Amino acid sequence: MFHDLTVAHVRQETPDAVAITFDIPADKEAAFAYTPGQYLTLRANVAGKDIRRSYSIASAPGAGLTVGVKRVDGGAFSGFVQGLKPGDRIAVMPPEGRFTCKGEAEVVLIASGSGITPMMAIAADVLARGGRATLVYGNRNTGSIMFRETLDALKDRYMERFTVVHLLSREDQDVPLLNGRVTGDKVQQLARAGAVDLKGAEAVFLCGPGGMIEDVSSVLEGEGVPKEKIRYELFYTEGAAPRAPKSAEAEAAQAAGVAVEVILDGTRKSFLVEAGDDTVLDAAERNGLELPFSCRGGMCCTCRCKVTEGKGEMAVNYSLEPWELDAGFTLACQTRPVSEKLVLDFDAA
Ligand code: FES
Repeated sequence: MFHDLTVAHVRQETPDAVAITFDIPADKEAAFAYTPGQYLTLRANVAGKDIRRSYSIASAPGAGLTVGVKRVDGGAFSGFVQGLKPGDRIAVMPPEGRFTCKGEAEVVLIASGSGITPMMAIAADVLARGGRATLVYGNRNTGSIMFRETLDALKDRYMERFTVVHLLSREDQDVPLLNGRVTGDKVQQLARAGAVDLKGAEAVFLCGPGGMIEDVSSVLEGEGVPKEKIRYELFYTEGAAPRAPKSAEAEAAQAAGVAVEVILDGTRKSFLVEAGDDTVLDAAERNGLELPFSCRGGMCCTCRCKVTEGKGEMAVNYSLEPWELDAGFTLACQTRPVSEKLVLDFDAA
């Protein structure tokens, strides 16, 4: 599942963000092929703990595989990753994620802070295909703008087809409309001022904190952008997203012990989920079984699997779509069994 990759370059983007480019040897090129908007999961032992974190890919296919990493306050892993140097090796899971461009030629990209990372790949791809992109990008000040040089270079190259609107919350710009954070109101004002063409967009991509995404999404819908054209990628901090408490039914089932069977890469493994376990993923780890996961927050879908027997409930779900829920898919990192037995198929498409 993980491959050891060598760091080719590290570039300081802002005082607290770096772009890390990996060398992809010829025999791993197929595994690391990706669609713009996807992310990589990095894994390392930091301060005695085996930790994984996901970082969006910033480069367009064909350019060096690059992720953007912003330092998180108190985040040991982001500090560790930022300390990587050319020649260092780190375990990396092949690209994943559904926040992708599906060939649209007219897109609006709305990001704040390090939410710019996947937008870089999407914008470069759309522009290279002859499409048109408008980016609304919010930061505190000019110094905190990630990928500024790359954005300028893209603007120079695709002057007619790439529009960048920088919003700054702590630095005054001459045009008052450009001062402030990315909010639904601000996007509405930009659209009504003609700076952003929401009506002509084939897709609108949002990447940033949950509050921003909720606020902007509801305004977009109010402005007539159909829901299916709005795609978003949430930022998360492990454990920070609100989670539903365990139901009485799940408490009772786990107190009695739930026999869980997982099917992964064609093999079956069994373990018990017990009262002290929060989720199936926690119980698997306690039993020494490694299941696929990355965010642990219900957002990335890496732990997606299908319930083929029994029943479970999820603490949160920010990534499975309604049809997947109807088809029986669940997120192992959020699943609490409510039946005596639960069978989860990780190989189900
Ligand atoms: S690990 Fe990301 S949704 Fe479960």
